[in-house]
Amino acid sequence: MSGSLYERAVAVAERAYAPYSRYLVGAAVLARDGRIFEGVNVENASYPLGICAERAAIARAVVEGCRPGDLEEIAVTASPCGGCRQWLFEFGLDRVTFRNADGEVVTRTPVELLPETFEL
Ligand code: THU
Repeated sequence: MSGSLYERAVAVAERAYAPYSRYLVGAAVLARDGRIFEGVNVENASYPLGICAERAAIARAVVEGCRPGDLEEIAVTASPCGGCRQWLFEFGLDRVTFRNADGEVVTRTPVELLPETFEL
């Protein structure tokens, strides 16, 4: 499953809106009920307002009714940023498959990516 989910992330990356960085990122989230939600990074002229592909995908899942615990795996074409790692932890994903800085596609848990996580 990780392979095909990653391929979905690669395919959707071409729809990213990233005119400022030109760094196109795609993400695909697999829900436990089998649905897949895709996301891309969407940038803005006011740079901090841009959204990462992972958060765009998770937000789409939430709109369709998913809540923390409902998402099994996410595949991303980039190594998740720090803020996205907090989202991945909060939504309780089992696995995160991503292309790391060495160009390898690896799978980690959210806690491996963000130990000592903040929780309310
Ligand atoms: N980006 C993502 O979409 N996900 C990440 O976890 C890393 C960074 C995007 C944000 C920005 O549009 C571009 O990559 C360059 O930082």
